[in-house]
Amino acid sequence: MSGLLLPILRRPSSLISTGFVVKSPQPLVQPQRHHLHYSYRLMSAKLKPAARVAGNRQDVWTIVNEAAAASPRQPIVNMGQGFFGYNPPEFILNAAKKALDRVECNQYSPTRGRPRLRKALSKAYAPHWGRELDPETEITITTGANEGMLSAFMAFIEPGDEVIVFEPFFDQYISNIEMPGGKIVYVPMHPPKEGHIKTLSASEWTIDFDELERAVTPRTKMLVINTPHNPVGKVFSRAELERIAELCVKNQIIILSDEVYDRLFYTPFTRMATLSPEVEKITLTVGSAGKNFYATGWRVGWLMGPAELIQYVAAAHTRICYSSVSPLQEACAIGFEEADQQGFWTQCIEDMQNKMSRFNAIWDELGLPYSIPEGGYFVMANLNKVEIPEGYPFPPHVAERPRDFKLAWFLIQELGVAAIPPSEFYTDVNAHIVEDWLRFAVCKPDEVLEDAKERLRGLKKFIKQ
Ligand SMILES: Cc1ncc(COP(=O)(O)O)c(C=O)c1O
Repeated sequence: MSGLLLPILRRPSSLISTGFVVKSPQPLVQPQRHHLHYSYRLMSAKLKPAARVAGNRQDVWTIVNEAAAASPRQPIVNMGQGFFGYNPPEFILNAAKKALDRVECNQYSPTRGRPRLRKALSKAYAPHWGRELDPETEITITTGANEGMLSAFMAFIEPGDEVIVFEPFFDQYISNIEMPGGKIVYVPMHPPKEGHIKTLSASEWTIDFDELERAVTPRTKMLVINTPHNPVGKVFSRAELERIAELCVKNQIIILSDEVYDRLFYTPFTRMATLSPEVEKITLTVGSAGKNFYATGWRVGWLMGPAELIQYVAAAHTRICYSSVSPLQEACAIGFEEADQQGFWTQCIEDMQNKMSRFNAIWDELGLPYSIPEGGYFVMANLNKVEIPEGYPFPPHVAERPRDFKLAWFLIQELGVAAIPPSEFYTDVNAHIVEDWLRFAVCKPDEVLEDAKERLRGLKKFIKQ
């Protein structure tokens, strides 16, 4: 989703400087000329965007989307961004259509979200939580998980507070933390040592707990964890979560547990908040109807947690966007009410696992290793054995980035398949950790996956034995 925002937000400085300074309109009379130029210069300085949105470096979404548009291999098979290539199920689509006919569903929702959705969530999550969350105080609806997380950071971060984030991270965390003035302390996840020669479970991506402990300071206010993980596909084990939670309880660090892929797990999945009452007290759990119901464009998400924390998230959300889209909240409420009886959650897992196996067969065929996902809809493949021909022409903005960017460019140009270079989700110092990996989103129709596989067969001639 950030791919849609960033390209627009990152450009204004260049547009303004060419629009106002270089191509200024001709003034009518000479004496005004100087004055006009002076005021344009003044204007252009004043119109400059704030540093938080004016990054210089092109982001991964712009690079991949522009490369895809310019590739000679049209149409491109886009396995880059994590949007679904198919619709939400009928019962949810119908609920959305019906909601549009109801007067109250087209008006403002309560700032904390529609009561029906909060109640439906409370009931739907009860089997996982061991109790029903209070829909009035322990759940708040947000405009997608992303705005929910922004609200959480806005609610608790003061300038200079530190937030621990694991690499690779979901890119929106960074700006969301920096907006209220938070300082990010990064802790890298490490791929399996033999990841370049062996296909192994995504569980083999690990964090070094000494590194994590060293990252904690008296200013650490929050820690962000994502499970099931994008892009790695790891589901953190109970033992790993317990170690992280212990550190957070000891240091009274708020845990933001991003569990947007919580209905897509292929191994036992533990929810951070359910570890113990002490952990629940400091944990905000993030959910997304976009991910749950194949509707990333609906922008419905939620945060669940103790009333003492949720009240401040809800307060921030009220200031940021007041309330979230009404008819689609209603549709999501119906989605949660009916999902079990429709067998939807089990179907989701089965369908996505089938897509995983269908697509990953290509890596087995090519002899390229990958991480077998334990959850979510991304797969990380290791292209260490792919040799890009000597002197292959890369544009400067790709040439200066790590090898995974070059691999992504090469695949788009040569095969017409778009994937995401994951070093974008690491800091520059740690980018080398994933320079041989690429992330593929498999939430696409089977025929698209087959098309991608056929194209990827074109890699054979570039694979060193
Ligand atoms: C890990 C993670 N968290 C949050 C989100 C955002 O979810 P939403 O679309 O509900 O804002 C995404 C979307 O890609 C994600 O991958």
